[in-house]
Amino acid sequence: MYHSGCLTVPKNINIYAHHFKEFCTVQFTMTTSNRVRWVFDCGNWFPSENDWSKASRSIQLEEKERIGRFVFKRDAKRSIIGQLMIRKFLSEAIQLPWSQIKTKRDLNNKPIIEGFNFNFNVSHDGNFVVFAGEENISIGIDIMKNCYKGGKSLKEFFRLMHRNFHLNEWAYINKGTDMNKTSLFYRFWCLKESYVKATGTGLTIDLKQICFVPKNELKKDIILGDTELFVRGKLMSDWSFHEYLYDDYTITVCIKGSITPVNFKLITFQDLISNAEMITEEDENYCKLYFNKEEHP
Ligand code: COA
Ligand code: MG
Repeated sequence: MYHSGCLTVPKNINIYAHHFKEFCTVQFTMTTSNRVRWVFDCGNWFPSENDWSKASRSIQLEEKERIGRFVFKRDAKRSIIGQLMIRKFLSEAIQLPWSQIKTKRDLNNKPIIEGFNFNFNVSHDGNFVVFAGEENISIGIDIMKNCYKGGKSLKEFFRLMHRNFHLNEWAYINKGTDMNKTSLFYRFWCLKESYVKATGTGLTIDLKQICFVPKNELKKDIILGDTELFVRGKLMSDWSFHEYLYDDYTITVCIKGSITPVNFKLITFQDLISNAEMITEEDENYCKLYFNKEEHP
């Protein structure tokens, strides 16, 4: 077995490869530091004062300040872990000391690094933060818990959201039983978000023009890679989507090109911080403010 932490899958896992019509077996290559998929469980992370101080001093000042403005610990934790993932990936991939890594945000707020050909993306939902990093390949990631947690009734939520879906997608979602309608909804949502995050536009574009056509059902321990994307009716064959089901979460990685999927590895706070360097001054007040916050709403 190839134990990858979050997802335990055989090394020769069966997947539906992007360009094969038939169910097939693809030989996995071991993860190298330049092809990374990480998952972190924030639900089981209760940082000590020392941990929070180390983490907050190991990220860029503007990110530290942004994270300091979150009302709840949950949101601050998810965002700081995303920042540590970005810095760990880049310092290992580029082989530069942690303190010399300088990321910025593009016009749509996407974290990027200039001058190096490394692409990465972060997503968080529920307890989890996920990260995908690649060299020379545009990448986007999204995670969603397959359970509706909004304030409105599910019926009302679906009524409001359906305008973001192509008619064919909506028909596909509504074919499901009540229970799996929600999972199907989140599967399509993850596909859409992973794509708009890879292109970097975010949710500023008309999501109805993006139509996904799944070929197979999403199942545990199987990575799907054959879902097709049509934009304004045109097949976008240069984009691939690796879809994972973990616990009651859907994770989708969108890649420009066609590459073998990589298993997610469960990463710990110690892993994330082991090569970190403190890049800002000690700030007792920052830590106090964090510990005075409620965990979640
Ligand atoms: N493209 C790709 N990734 C982005 C991004 C973008 N435009 N903006 C932010 N991200 C990254 C960040 O790392 C962010 O983590 P952080 O908030 O801790 O820094 C992470 O994606 C969040 O992803 P996720 O957890 O999946 O968040 P979400 O489901 O709430 O949605 C977006 C994320 C990007 C799709 C959504 O926020 C969006 O579309 N925003 C619109 C952007 C916009 O309108 N910008 C106008 C200029 S301000
Ligand atoms: Mg998201």
